[in-house]
Amino acid sequence: MTGLARFERRARELLDPVHYDFFAGGAGDEVALADNEEAFGRLALLPRILRDTTGGSTAVTLLGDACEMPIFVSPTAFHRLAHPGGERATARATAAAGTVLVTGTAATTPVADVVAEAREIREDATVWFQLYLQPDPEVTAALVRRAERAGCTALVVTADSPVFGRRGRDDRNGFHDLPPGLYAENMRDLPGGADRVRPIEMSGAFTWEHLDRLRARTDLPIVVKGVLHPEDARLALRHGVDAVLVSNHGGRQLDVAPATVDALPAVAEAVRGRIPVLLDGGIRSGADAVMALALGATAVGVGRPVLWGLAAGGEKGVGEVLELLRDELVHTMALCGAASPGDLTGDLVTRRGAPR
Ligand code: FNR
Repeated sequence: MTGLARFERRARELLDPVHYDFFAGGAGDEVALADNEEAFGRLALLPRILRDTTGGSTAVTLLGDACEMPIFVSPTAFHRLAHPGGERATARATAAAGTVLVTGTAATTPVADVVAEAREIREDATVWFQLYLQPDPEVTAALVRRAERAGCTALVVTADSPVFGRRGRDDRNGFHDLPPGLYAENMRDLPGGADRVRPIEMSGAFTWEHLDRLRARTDLPIVVKGVLHPEDARLALRHGVDAVLVSNHGGRQLDVAPATVDALPAVAEAVRGRIPVLLDGGIRSGADAVMALALGATAVGVGRPVLWGLAAGGEKGVGEVLELLRDELVHTMALCGAASPGDLTGDLVTRRGAPR
């Protein structure tokens, strides 16, 4: 068994099957979940030869934050369900890898503690905050303030969840609540709910106007997560958004959404380099990352691979997953004749079975 698969296998052995299903599962028939990964298998890399790739680098700058590799940690809920070290362990390993951690509304550790933990490892560690806009604007404002005070350097607003996805595995397993003692800690002590943890609410009422209001309220860069339609990328530009994240929520929301790597080219084309285009969904190797970067992503996020590393070995496991991805990225770039992420261009990607 090569690569990341061994971390998933170990996680499956160690986790309560109900919790494994929560992390692994997707919406409906899990079409988008499977397609995110399969879509990379339909692509091939057309390498360039005789290019000096020595002295190259994987470093990128993301929204002003220096990043040692163009692979970041996407926001996933409930890390303490995967391992007692929870988000703290993830934060330490991600900081050590020199990349961005996106912690979020559904973290089981308060954002201030996540940032403090990361900065213990590395003074300039980068943590962004994933925000679910809440129907009560005071609650949203309090979450934003919390992230700002903690030292987060960007907000990632998840816009693909006007309603909660229908996750068959969780329904069948009756998994709807965290076990006793675990909470979405960022929802504690918010306006209208002192001393208690508010539920995270989904609402279909949000529009670009709400983003404008958020834009007016914070100086932090804003990333919109869940962009798949190129017209929404254009709207994001018009509304002063700082980056878009092409995502289908790891196949957990609209089950018939396209694979993210299939949606990427049209979004990149609409954005035309004016802001960074990020992507997550189905990245399971450094080669997958190379393909997405070549098709126009500035960086890619990983969700489940980090959860598998966390479940398998806490901080060490997350570190091993990120190190493996970095090693595969460097290796694949070299074999493609690319010295740095900027050398990865669209002409390097072809359909498997149909080389140019
Ligand atoms: C997620 N994701 C997610 N996204 C988000 O914006 N807020 C959240 O709270 C969560 N929670 C969450 C939990 C779990 C268990 C998973 C697997 C995913 C989606 C996540 O940010 C990302 O889009 C996907 O995980 C990317 O796909 P891969 O890398 O898991 O294939």
